[in-house]
This record gives sequence, structure tokens and C-alpha cells, in this order.
Amino acid sequence: MSDQPATIEDYLDENRKFPPPADVAARSLWIQDGIDALAEGSSEEFWAAQARALVTWRKPFTEVLDWQVPNAKWFADGTLNVAENCLDRHVTAGMGDKVAYHWEGEPGDTRTITYAELRDEVAKFANVLKGLGVGRGDRVAVYLPMIPELPVTMLACARIGAVHSVVFGGFSANALADRIDDSDCKVLVTADGGWRRGKAALLKPAADEAVERTSTIEHVVVVRRTGASGDDTEISMTAGRDHWYHDLMADASTDCACEEMGAEDLLYLLYTSGTTAKPKGVMHTTGGYLTQVAFTHRYVFDIHPDDIYWCAADVGWVTGHSYIVYAPLANGCTSVMYEGTPDHPGKDRFWDIIERYGVNVLYTAPTAIRTFMKWGIEEPAKHDLSSLRVLGSVGEPINPEAWMWYHTNIGGERCPIVDTWWQTETGGIMVSPIPGVTTTKPGSATFPLPGISVEIVDEAGNKVERGGGYLTITEPWPSMLRGVWGDPERFFDTYWSRYPGRYFVGDGAKIDDDGYYWVIGRVDDVMNVSGHRISTTEVESALVSDPRVAEAAVVGATDATTGQAIVAFVTPKGDTEWTESLGEELRRHVADEIGKISRPKTIIFTDDLPKTRSGKIMRRLLRDVAEGRDLGDTTTLADPGVVEEIRRRAEDGGPTTAE
Ligand code: WTA
Repeated sequence: MSDQPATIEDYLDENRKFPPPADVAARSLWIQDGIDALAEGSSEEFWAAQARALVTWRKPFTEVLDWQVPNAKWFADGTLNVAENCLDRHVTAGMGDKVAYHWEGEPGDTRTITYAELRDEVAKFANVLKGLGVGRGDRVAVYLPMIPELPVTMLACARIGAVHSVVFGGFSANALADRIDDSDCKVLVTADGGWRRGKAALLKPAADEAVERTSTIEHVVVVRRTGASGDDTEISMTAGRDHWYHDLMADASTDCACEEMGAEDLLYLLYTSGTTAKPKGVMHTTGGYLTQVAFTHRYVFDIHPDDIYWCAADVGWVTGHSYIVYAPLANGCTSVMYEGTPDHPGKDRFWDIIERYGVNVLYTAPTAIRTFMKWGIEEPAKHDLSSLRVLGSVGEPINPEAWMWYHTNIGGERCPIVDTWWQTETGGIMVSPIPGVTTTKPGSATFPLPGISVEIVDEAGNKVERGGGYLTITEPWPSMLRGVWGDPERFFDTYWSRYPGRYFVGDGAKIDDDGYYWVIGRVDDVMNVSGHRISTTEVESALVSDPRVAEAAVVGATDATTGQAIVAFVTPKGDTEWTESLGEELRRHVADEIGKISRPKTIIFTDDLPKTRSGKIMRRLLRDVAEGRDLGDTTTLADPGVVEEIRRRAEDGGPTTAE
């Protein structure tokens, strides 16, 4: 655990209140379905009712919860198939012609995919995977851009009981190799590349490099994306190992039964950064996960049958898993899915998409909202955004200024904003307002959902009734992680050891006088850059893997657009010269080791790092330096002079800073 951050004391003083708009309340599904009354019973009964209402079971469950800290089993004797829930049952119910995805590529190409078409493509690819030797429980690595084949691959795995491990396309070959190795993936599904900001961002070369470094991949399936839409880069294919997706699909059958899975069978792994250099393979299972994501999607976004819903996240992160793929499809909803960046070809791409598809619900991240703020209100003003009804936010605390901008300029002051707090580990939304029901305050995620028990506690674990402390979860919830792949000890130590019997979130939070929750940010060595979780230790170990670096310390400094920015304090070895180009090379080295998202924005060279007498780097002080704050108590430092020296360097313009 790192030193306590200043952020816990940085209470927001925000008292504006926004009551639920009457027109949203009048058609609220929450009110129509009587959720408040249901929530009065026990949380087990509540979730069992949702599991029966929203999920189709092959064999109904009779057991609701088996809880032996830290192992939860939900609906354990029930059986189901997630792909059947997301696709086949809707087709059988006569919804085959309903659009599942309005997909739009960055160059402007589009695909409209109905539930029947998606079901058939998934069944075909499930047969392809089987043909490549993938069976129940096998792990499939997925390294794809935001194209329809990404949900198709995930659902094809779910259909045959295989486990997908999606790796965000922005991660490097190294990061992909580590993830493949950790869970011994048998097959890798990738693409030649995807479009980003008008250019083909290639994936296959990194995929090749990763596969060469690992020993378990038997087959690589390659989707032709950029090559099929204008890029003429030659992609090398290894005979016998690599196969084009379109070749394999050409004569695959649409006849593929859904495997009957136990509610607690593994659905997927998703790697996330923790406080050590090694990412954790977060495990999510079947019945409880589907129940909670379907419930939260339906009520938090108030999804009506004809709605057009757009979650603008990347499927490479948990938000995309739960709220682009599993929840909207389980609820038979029509989604927009977009491949590229928001500034291509113009800075109004998002607003153009909303106008053209008539999007009713938009779910995005504060970092995107702050970027839109920078681009100016002229961009959204070019478009008719009157179709919007509900706006969502996720991934990091939303500052009241960004909230107000979203409310005014995107929501036209009529759309409730749902600030949803959750994590990769929680699988689904945990704390959020309900549109048409909750009075919101800008920057507060408001209240826990029914069936979710959270508490703020102090250092000693005493409940904090009002004020700040650490966020904890006191009861198991259906979509909670079931473990860390291959490392039960780490699962227990990270989440369950600090406050016995409770889940330790890793976020600082406060509860105000009205009982509203405000989640302030991480209290561990995890940074949040543009809503992405990045471990300080992971970046540090990438830096010291360069032979010229003796020591490195990394902190997240407050940044107006990205929430936090990565600042690295680096001590080069012996006679290494402290040049601008060394800084550049180190930034590139981190991008190669982990991915561009982890590249430090600023590198500050220093002779020494501030350490306690026991040798622990004092990141709090480095954060103070990086943010230009007054230094607090430095008496525990072994050498108080060090930090002054670093500060002088930071101020003297010594640092290497990215544009
Ligand atoms: C932060 C993303 C404040 C938090 C779904 C959490 C938030 C981490 C919010 C999880 C929010 C997410 N308000 N902070 N509404 N949503 N966070 O695993 O620090 O990528 O622990 O999951 O993001 O990030 P992850």
C-alpha cells in the first residue's frame, strides 16, 4: 500500500442538485417494474428475481448464493449459455430482423447486423474454432480492433464454452505475449489492422512477435480489415499456423449447438493492472455476470425496446465487454459500434454519428468529455442531438465542470447523467443514479444499486458515516470476479485481506451530508490515465529494463484532459548523459514494453529518489513535485535534500515532456 494520497482530503464542495426530469420519470422502467419495492427484500432474493426475469436458463437454479470468503457461487446449480441468451433466444422470439449493431468503420464504411445475422456469424465462427481444436474451457486470445468480428469471436467462444481473453489493440507485442502465456491460450484471433485517425494501425506484426515469444498458440485467425478497406501493406501469413478469417468462414456451417454451461463456469479472463508489474487475469463467470450486467444496463440506462444505444468505449476494456457486448445483446437492444477516433475526419464525428443514427443513450468517459470541451461547443452545435435522452459516464471521477458541460451542451439540459462507478473486478455497475428516479449532483455517483452493499471505512476498518475514507463492498454481488487466474493467493491478498470479510476496492471515496457517494480516485499504486488503469510498478519495471536506467519512480499527476498523466523520475546509470533523446528513447521503450497508453508524458532525470529510511520510494512527495505543490512533511526521508534537488530540476525545465 502506498502512502496516503492528498486526494482523500480534497473534498469537492459541490451542492448543485438536479432532480429527475418529469418526462423521463413518466416512462422509467425502474418505476414501471417496481424495482424499489423489490429492493426492500434481501439482496439474495432481489438478485434471484432478476436472474429469473432477465436470463433464460436451461436448467433453473435452486441455490442462490454460496459464500465462503472470498469465494462466491451464484445460482450454482443452474445451467445456461450466454450466447444463446444474447442471440438465439431473441431470434426464436421473432426478433431476428431487429438490428443488433449499427457498425461504422472510421473510413465511413458501415454494416448493419441483425440479431439473426449475428447469430449465424457467431455459430459459423464457433464451428471454425471447434475445427481448430478449441473446446470447453480452452483459452482463446483476442487482439482485434473495434470491428464486428470482435463481438462475434467473444460470443463464438461463449457458445462452445471456451474462455476468451481480449487484449486491447493498443497493447504491445510484449504485453500480448505476457497475457497469452499467463493463461496458455491455444488460438489467437487478430486482424491485419484497424483504422485510427485516418491511418491503418497494424496489429498482425505485433501478433506475430507475440506468438513467436510464446509456446501455446497453435493457430492464428486473421480478419482482413485494413487490407479490405484501402491499405496495401503486405501482411505475412505463416503457412499451417495462420488462417484468414474469411477463408475459414466461407464454408462453415451455421448449425452449432450452444453448450450447456454451469452458472459458475468461466466466461472470460480480462487482464487489469494492479499494484505489481504483473497484470492480473480477472475471472468472470456465467450466470451471475449475465444477470447483473443485464439488470444494470436495462435500468441504469432505462433501455426501451426501440432505443438506439451507444457505448463509445473499446471492447478491449471491461466497459466494452459488459456494455457493448454482453448486456445490450442479452437485453435485445440495438447498439451503435464505432471503430475509430472521435476526431476523424472532423472533431464532430461523435455528434455526427448521434444525429445520423438517432442515438438515445450515450455512454462515454470523462476524459472524452474533457477533450470535447477543449474542441469547443461549435462541434456539437453543428448537429441535432435532440434524440439523446440519457447520458452516461464511466472510468474515472467526472469533475463537476465536465459534468455541467455534458449536461448543457450534449444533454441540452434535459438528459439525466448517470455517473456509473464500477471496476473490471466488479464486472458490472455498482453505484449509479437511476434516470427519472435519482436527484443527481455533478461529480457524485450517488447511491449503490439495490442488492449492492458498500461502505466507506477508515484506516482501522471502522465505518465512516459522513466524510472520507476507503471504499469497501460488504456483501458478494453476482458479477463479482471469481478469482485471479492461476493465483488464488493474490486474489485473496489484493482484495480480501485488508479488511477481513470485505472486498477492498482500492478507491478513496467520501459520503456527504445527504448520503451521496463521491468516488475520488485510487489509493494504491494504480494510475488512471484517460480512464485506463495503469500500474506505476509496471511502468517502473519497463523503465529499468532499459540498460541505461538505474532506478525509476512513476507517479500519476493531475492532468486537465486525461485525469492523470504519467510522470517518471529516472536515475540514469553512471556516465549516461541526460539528454532529450534519452528521454524520448525511454518513452518509446515503455510503449514497446507495454503499449502507447503507458508511455510517460514527462520524464525528469535525477541523481537520486526520495526514500524513507527503510528504502521505500515516497511517491506522495514525487506527486507533490509533479503537481507543483508545497511539500508536506519530509522528516521521514533518509535524505531530505534529494527532493529539493528534484524539485529544482522539475522547475528548471529539465524534464523531457511530450507535446
Ligand atoms: C475508476 C472501469 C470515479 C475507479 C469500469 C475504479 C471511477 C477504476 C468511476 C476502475 C466513476 C471508474 N467515478 N471513479 N464513475 N468509474 N472509476 O477496472 O478508480 O478500468 O477503481 O473499470 O476506475 O477501472 P476499470
